[in-house]
Amino acid sequence: MGEFSTEERDIYSSKYLVDYYDIVAPSSKSVDDESFYWGCYQELMTLRPPTSEDPFVVLDLGTGTGRVLHGLAASAKVVGVDFTDTVLTGVDTAKDMLRKAEEVTKEPLKGHVTWVHGSALDLESIMREQENHKVDLLIFSIGSISHLSEDDQPQVFLNQISKVLRRDTGRAYISIYDGSVIQKRGSITFHQPEGVTEVPSMVYPGIIYREYNHRGELRDKIKYIKFDLDVVERTDGEDREVEKNRISMKMRQWDEDEIVSISNGSGVKFSGSSRGKHETFYAFQVAA
Ligand SMILES: C[S@@+](CC[C@H](N)C(=O)[O-])C[C@H]1O[C@@H](n2cnc3c(N)ncnc32)[C@H](O)[C@@H]1O
Repeated sequence: MGEFSTEERDIYSSKYLVDYYDIVAPSSKSVDDESFYWGCYQELMTLRPPTSEDPFVVLDLGTGTGRVLHGLAASAKVVGVDFTDTVLTGVDTAKDMLRKAEEVTKEPLKGHVTWVHGSALDLESIMREQENHKVDLLIFSIGSISHLSEDDQPQVFLNQISKVLRRDTGRAYISIYDGSVIQKRGSITFHQPEGVTEVPSMVYPGIIYREYNHRGELRDKIKYIKFDLDVVERTDGEDREVEKNRISMKMRQWDEDEIVSISNGSGVKFSGSSRGKHETFYAFQVAA
């Protein structure tokens, strides 16, 4: 795809879009999940203490730039834990996001994490390629399961979880955002600014992100989100177009607790939920 392509793309598919995502996502002030996942990690480690032959396996799906795994690393550092006998894998369909995840990887994650290009729908084949096949803690954070917008994808995904999760002690945590729950809609504001907004890059000198022309509609429980995002280089008051992006995304919307009802017969069973600030974390384990 060329710099000025008019083809539609998602918000994760160029180095500038990755930078923009990392500016906008945390500024939604809705990301309060890192301590929750750190608590899960600690609890599950006591349920199944790992060894060097059978390490504790963390799988973060839709890892993006690795926010959740970098968050676990930050918590580990605070308490002086170094991830001995823990292996972590971040999986994403967007290569540009993974590139950044890798670039910013430092201790104590370094040497313990693998960044894998792949889909949450192909967990069995992804884990077959890893040295340790069974997952102790699986995470699909920040409502990203809404990206599985085709008809039966959530069921396929839950079934894939049942193939890779460690029996008895393994847990999968899936976040559903309140803003994507039909009965709760309105309790969170989406990033959907009116008019034209300009945001400077955090990484590339002189680069400005210009976002405008937001459109969206809801059809058959799928939210279609479209907007334009131009990347502009500003020097001495002069603007030069660097990249023009026509963003188009499809996000699945949910009935309340629908994820629990569709898990019936999928190979995993619901084992409880917890509330975050703007999301519900649904826990699953392998069905008996
Ligand atoms: C909202 S972002 C979340 C990124 C990161 N986990 C965070 O919390 O900042 C959603 C991510 O899911 C990825 N994604 C979308 N569909 C996917 C799929 N089928 N399998 C794996 N990742 C997917 C996107 O590329 C994107 O990086």
